Amino acid sequence: MQFIGKNMENNQDLSKFFANMPNFNTVKIPPAEEFMKFKKDIAILINLDLTNYKNNQMERRIVSLMNRLGINSLDEYARVLKTDSKKLEEFVNMLTINVSEFFRNPEKFLELETTYLPALLKKFSRIKIWSAGCSIGAEIYSIAMILDKMGTLDKCELVATDFDQNILRKAREGIYSKYEIGTIQKGYEKYVQTIDAEKYQINPRLTSKIRFERQDLLNSKYEKGFHLILCRNVVIYFTEDAKDRLYKNFYDSLVPGGILFIGSTERINNHKAFGYNLKTSFFYEK
Ligand SMILES: C[S@@+](CC[C@H](N)C(=O)[O-])C[C@H]1O[C@@H](n2cnc3c(N)ncnc32)[C@H](O)[C@@H]1O
Repeated sequence: MQFIGKNMENNQDLSKFFANMPNFNTVKIPPAEEFMKFKKDIAILINLDLTNYKNNQMERRIVSLMNRLGINSLDEYARVLKTDSKKLEEFVNMLTINVSEFFRNPEKFLELETTYLPALLKKFSRIKIWSAGCSIGAEIYSIAMILDKMGTLDKCELVATDFDQNILRKAREGIYSKYEIGTIQKGYEKYVQTIDAEKYQINPRLTSKIRFERQDLLNSKYEKGFHLILCRNVVIYFTEDAKDRLYKNFYDSLVPGGILFIGSTERINNHKAFGYNLKTSFFYEK
């Protein structure tokens, strides 16, 4: 088995995702009131308030998908989504974009391994870690592998949450394609067992260690007492207001001295106002 650090960048992932969709520039966006009605209908159906997502990007994605399905109006699309569970699943996938990979931005995971995790484990006898918007679980399994290699996994409680039930099912199972495991870094191969030429299983000792739960980050109470929170590549489509609420809630969920680790294309503009101290790029301390 070959583990090659493919380290794909976000933008490449996203352009692949959108490759089958019509050019955004040619997408005709329906009037705002039609969208308001559609968002209300859908909010009830999937229990997710779409008004927290940036309008123009989300609307273009919705219309692109609708056009691809040959559906001509938002009303008709809402009716289809109410009756066709496959299309509803596709809609949620499009909306939440669950592209992820193991050790995404490996240099940052190395920093976590050499700086932040040892410091937290020195300061606290047990640590609690949360991957918020965990997608397929690659992020939290990367953390579990690092902790196990450090011999400290048993001192840690690991939680991973996502809005998308289907993606959580995959995360819990811990079964991945050869392509998906491609970014597992050298030295961590032992945590993956071969099922067949195409399927690989994360060591059950790691899968059983993680508590996977469904959670809408935009509309729920956050658990408290975390020493490390990872929320990476989740907020890109959120409005500024929604992001502010999220970062405030994460602050309240962290213990003093706890760390928030965000995505490599993200920054918290007003971090000082929330009480965060920027330690190094993408790592904020309470
Ligand atoms: C691009 S993935 C990021 C996965 C991982 N954190 C990483 O960086 O590789 C974004 C994830 O955020 C989740 N997400 C989007 N909106 C959410 C919400 N309101 N509540 C919880 N999860 C959400 C999506 O379902 C998706 O799995």
